[in-house]
Amino acid sequence: MRDYILLYINGKRYQVSGEQIFQPFSDFLRHEQGLTGTKVVCAEGDCGACTALLGTVKNHELIYEIFNTCIYYVYQLDCQHVVTIEGLKANGHLHAVQQSMIDHFSSQCGYCTPGFVVAAAGMFEKKNVLSEQDVRYGLTGNLCRCTGYQPIIQAVLAVAPDTVPSIAECFPSSAMLQDFEQHTTDSIAAHYEETITGKSVIKKFFNPATLQEILDCKKQYPAAAFVAGGTDISVQMNKGKVHPDTIISLSNLPNLDFIKRQEEYVRIGPKVCWAELEHFCKNTFPEWHKTLTVFGSPQIRNVGTIAGNIANASPVGDSLPFLFVMNAEVELSSVHGKRWVDINDFYHGYKNTEMTKEELITEIRLAPLNAVQKMKLYKVSKRKDLDIAIFTAGILLEEMDGVIQNIRIAYGGVGPVVLRLLETEAFLKKKQFCLETFREAGKLARGEITPISDVRASAEYRLQLSENILLQFYYDVCEEQPC
Ligand SMILES: Cc1cc2nc3c(=O)[nH]c(=O)nc-3n(C[C@H](O)[C@H](O)[C@H](O)COP(=O)(O)OP(=O)(O)OC[C@H]3O[C@@H](n4cnc5c(N)ncnc54)[C@H](O)[C@@H]3O)c2cc1C
Ligand code: FES
Ligand code: FES
Repeated sequence: MRDYILLYINGKRYQVSGEQIFQPFSDFLRHEQGLTGTKVVCAEGDCGACTALLGTVKNHELIYEIFNTCIYYVYQLDCQHVVTIEGLKANGHLHAVQQSMIDHFSSQCGYCTPGFVVAAAGMFEKKNVLSEQDVRYGLTGNLCRCTGYQPIIQAVLAVAPDTVPSIAECFPSSAMLQDFEQHTTDSIAAHYEETITGKSVIKKFFNPATLQEILDCKKQYPAAAFVAGGTDISVQMNKGKVHPDTIISLSNLPNLDFIKRQEEYVRIGPKVCWAELEHFCKNTFPEWHKTLTVFGSPQIRNVGTIAGNIANASPVGDSLPFLFVMNAEVELSSVHGKRWVDINDFYHGYKNTEMTKEELITEIRLAPLNAVQKMKLYKVSKRKDLDIAIFTAGILLEEMDGVIQNIRIAYGGVGPVVLRLLETEAFLKKKQFCLETFREAGKLARGEITPISDVRASAEYRLQLSENILLQFYYDVCEEQPC
């Protein structure tokens, strides 16, 4: 058992313990280490100013992906290597992206610049030749308020790939890997005493190394918060909306990051992040893949998990309409055993789920689409990229000889939880697959939901969307197979 987090920053080894474990990593970098190149603007994962590269061990190799340090806490970083903007300068020379940013006048106030440089450097880790589309896609998690994007994109496109050394060349990994492999099977327990408005609170942190240990820990501390990617919970913590006294990190738990096809199921481990799912879905679930490309930003997709999206229970969680119409099942584990719950029965009310305080999501499984099923997913938001949905929908159709045999419809953003439109589904069954049927269904759909008006949209707009999306679905299916 250890009481410290072992991490490397720009190749240097750190053992962090006590209060510092409980800091957002951007604070640790800036305030404790003086690495102030990493900037903080929004502190909620939206602007990318705090972007750094996270090196995680995969198949005995360190793989580097970009992440937002403002919503990643030190306790999530055990046995990982972080490269910040300071680490990109090699042998006293600016990184090729930095030099190109200067050459292309891509910086004015400069506050966003380190984040853009790190994000671009991360792209060259994966791919040598970048198209303009790659660069635009790779920079969706970075905002600039003064220069404008064109000079930044031009600067990245102008970089000669052979002038960019890989992170592994700059920071040889063998010693780090050996160190991590010796420590990654350790459990970690740490705490410190904090005084909040005159009251003393013991903040506790656990990083269990086995599933049994995590379940025992949750039984002992039922109010503890699990943290996976932290892209929901850390935002809430930064905003002061939640103050968990006890944190249980899933970061060192082995064998929970699988995606596999087995028998009739696609089986997904709870630690699988969106970037991995995006890659997997390209062939298996192409329609889901499309929506995952506009899920948050690369920084969010690299760490945010599917289990976190399900457990967070947002009525506009992007994965949910898909999982609902696919009749996905969620495995819940506790010291009392395991059980499977149909996702359609998982939500009881706003942020109220079937999961007890002792349970952990340990798997999500769903059957792939069969040859007669057609599925479409919709996300309506004010901006295409990096925006919370106003309305989401998943529609799955089975049609034969122009007659609807079965249809499942799930809407998000129209009530406290994602809803299946059971009356509209019943109306559509055995009806002709034609425009008139979907027009009538749209009117019925309006009556099944009670959306509210909020900062994103009015209730009336959402009602109209719930009607129109059925027509859109009809036209989309016709486009693929003339009706
Ligand atoms: C800038 C930004 C953009 C975003 N964009 C989108 C978007 O486009 N679409 C969208 O749907 N969401 C979006 N999100 C929300 C978030 O990224 C997702 O919900 C993500 O999937 C959460 O996963 P996580 O691993 O980070 O969860 P965490 O924050 O680690 O956890 C979220 C909740 O789930 C619980 N939890 C985590 N894992 C488990 C488990 N295995 N068992 C039980 N409970 C668990 C935690 O205790 C916590 O309550 C965005 C967030 C940010 C900050
Ligand atoms: S400071 Fe804006 S994403 Fe971190
Ligand atoms: S250069 Fe000022 S915000 Fe981008």
